[in-house]
Parts: sequence; C-alpha cells; structure tokens
Amino acid sequence: MTTDERELCWAEFERATRERTHAFRQPVVMSVDEEGYPSGRVLTLRAVDRQNVRLRFHVDRRSPKFGHWMRQPVIAAVFYDGPAKWQVRVKGLAELHFDDDVARAAWGHTSPMGKRTYLTTAAPGLELDWDSGSAYPPGLELRRPTPEESEAGYANFAVVLVEVLELDSLHLAKDGHKRFQIIEEVHSVRRLAP
Ligand SMILES: Cc1cc2nc3c(=O)[nH]c(=O)nc-3n(C[C@H](O)[C@H](O)[C@H](O)COP(=O)(O)O)c2cc1C
Repeated sequence: MTTDERELCWAEFERATRERTHAFRQPVVMSVDEEGYPSGRVLTLRAVDRQNVRLRFHVDRRSPKFGHWMRQPVIAAVFYDGPAKWQVRVKGLAELHFDDDVARAAWGHTSPMGKRTYLTTAAPGLELDWDSGSAYPPGLELRRPTPEESEAGYANFAVVLVEVLELDSLHLAKDGHKRFQIIEEVHSVRRLAP
C-alpha cells in the first residue's frame, strides 16, 4: 500500500467526480475568515486534474468563502469515507477563476439547474425576511431556467482550483491503523504514526 497510496487517493478523487454517491464527492473545504477563524463547508468535487494536481470546485463569487480565498488563498479539505474508515486530508492553494477561459468552460458544462443556484437575488449569507420565499427570481422557484435566463448567473460564478500541496491519508484497521503523508511537489510518500 505504501508507494501506491498517492495513486489510490487520486483514483478515488477521480471516481468521486463520476459517481454521485461516492463518499469523497462532498468533502469539507476550509478557508480562513477575516478574523482568522477556520471556516468550513461542504463543497461538491467537480473535477480532478491529476496531471496538474488540481481539484476543481464551483462557488458563488458573492459568498463569504470566495472573499476569504481572495484575501488568503489557503485551503484545507477533509474527505471522509465512513464505511471504509478512511480519511484524506488535503493542504493546498486556491486559484480563483471568474470571467476567464477556465470559468467559461466550467460554466458551459454546468446543468441548467446547477446554473440556477447562481441566479439568486440575495447573495449567499445575506439575511432574508422571515416571510420571503426562495431566493430565486420570481417564476424560477420551481423550474429550470432557460439557457437565456441562466446566463445572468455567470456573473456570480467562480471556479476554485485547488493546487494540492500535501495529502495525509489515514486508514483505520483492526490490525493497525495506517497513515501516509504525500508531498506532491516531490511525489514522496512517507509512512507516519497514525
Ligand atoms: C451536499 C452539499 C453540497 C454542496 N455543494 C456546494 C458547492 O459545490 N458549491 C458551493 O458553493 N456550495 C455548496 N454547498 C453549500 C455550502 O456548504 C455552503 O453552505 C455555501 O456555499 C455557503 O458557504 P460560505 O458561507 O462558507 O461561503 C453544498 C452543501 C451541501 C450540503
């Protein structure tokens, strides 16, 4: 398992982008807020570029996390597979893309319902009136937007590419837990005490 550990992690990241129920599809991804507190949330893993050691996430440019990464492009993420008793921690740098070729290509592959998320009239995290309905524009609460309607969402859409610097992979097992540290820059895999 030792030298294959890097391959194992990246292969599972890739599988998670294809399989909707894969345990690694929705990791907790952390940023650092304005006050220096860690700030975590679940994000959907959209794509993996193993060649360039990048993970891709999609976010709303109006959201707090986007501001966090604009200020401080550091990322930690935790992938967790409960039944397999497997945790992979990622340390990396956030590369933000909006209104560029990377964002346009990712937007082009986003479904109409996915695009609807970016059409909300209130920015993520804003306080809403108790009696207000959904944050979607009137008429879009219950249906998919037309291609023309969904285009407005592009102004709020951003891609976060995570340049993975390090992985920390931990397998719990009755016969002894196993933990590995993978340094991407040099492709080194070291065994660590669990
Ligand atoms: C299963 C699940 C998947 C999610 N996927 C995404 C996602 O891909 N992108 C995203 O911006 N938020 C996603 N969210 C919402 C975030 O967890 C978060 O609540 C929201 O983005 C606001 O984050 P912020 O206030 O930290 O900026 C998802 C939430 C859940 C429960």
